[in-house]
Amino acid sequence: MSLFAPLANSWIAAQRPYQPGRPLEEVARELGLQSIDGIVKLASNENNLGPSPKAMAAMQAAIPRMHLYPDGGSYYLRRAIAKKFGIGEDMVMLGCGSNEHIVLLAHAFMKEGDDLVCSEKTFVVYKLVAALYRCRCIEAPMQGMTHDLDAMLSAITPQTKLVIVANPNNPTGTLVDQAAVDRFVERVPDHVVTVFDEAYMELLEPEVAVDTVKHARAGKKPVITLRTFSKAYGLAGLRVGYAMAQPDAIDLLNKVRQPFNVTTMAQAAALAALEDEDYLVASRQMLREGRAQMMTGMRKLGLDPVESVTNFILFPFAKAAELTAALTKRKVIVRPMAGFGLPQHVRVSVGLAAENEQFLKALAEALPELQ
Ligand SMILES: Cc1ncc(COP(=O)(O)O)c(C=O)c1O
Repeated sequence: MSLFAPLANSWIAAQRPYQPGRPLEEVARELGLQSIDGIVKLASNENNLGPSPKAMAAMQAAIPRMHLYPDGGSYYLRRAIAKKFGIGEDMVMLGCGSNEHIVLLAHAFMKEGDDLVCSEKTFVVYKLVAALYRCRCIEAPMQGMTHDLDAMLSAITPQTKLVIVANPNNPTGTLVDQAAVDRFVERVPDHVVTVFDEAYMELLEPEVAVDTVKHARAGKKPVITLRTFSKAYGLAGLRVGYAMAQPDAIDLLNKVRQPFNVTTMAQAAALAALEDEDYLVASRQMLREGRAQMMTGMRKLGLDPVESVTNFILFPFAKAAELTAALTKRKVIVRPMAGFGLPQHVRVSVGLAAENEQFLKALAEALPELQ
């Protein structure tokens, strides 16, 4: 008998929770193993190089201060990000992962009856958050696996408050380029806040990376850029992301966040990671090589993976859930994409060379069982 569901807000009770990639420990328990050794997680687009040694040293140094509340404004980290992007310190806000910013954006800008526009195959959290605020999520069609920014513009209604472009897009791994993004920003009507969710941008080679912070600098259109330390910077477990926008947008977001939303440990590690350019260069190199290894290996096995600019690869497979289970049995965790509205696709993250090899070997064993 349910005691609470009848008492809850109906739209919350009906909400489908986000399904994250399975943790190593959970899979170890399921396989009856005493430890996580030998299990490879390629399910959440993390950086399997592990945290930068500089970030680890900064965390060690922060331990004796753990009895104190964090700096609620994340001053030093905010200042370092502002300097890196050439913007004011009042144009940056730190959050508990960029996931928190997505919720805070809805909190600040959306109310019942408003619309949120995104693409049909994109990060599922946008849709979940729209439902939390009793808003409609309008999913614009894509051109194959890439955002169709014209279709997104056409999907905007007078009730639309937010349009969110994940770039590169999760789960398809595709990019819309600088010229397309700039044209889009010009054409989005002024009653809509344009959000670029750039969780994977630092993994791209600098010459193809897209700059949307220039729109915040210019201050002509309501544009917000989200970035995170979870992906290229290898700090997903600490939960730290940031928003960059004109100061009045940052003021609004500061009104709806918790006072201490980023821990002292997270601030210290992120500050050190931000300054560790060598780690980023190594991460990009690992990604370049690993992605080529994975794409070649998957094609050899007869699969048709989507060309990706970032650290995960989407591929169609009719029995996606069965394949995921068969790989899990072989100690490789990948992500079936049913929760993202793609029940016949699997997404695999690019890991270390040996992990990618373990995935390809497990795949080679599993595929004949499923054909
Ligand atoms: C497109 C996109 N945005 C945001 C996030 C959330 O990242 P985090 O909350 O770890 O910063 C993810 C994580 O997978 C993502 O893929």
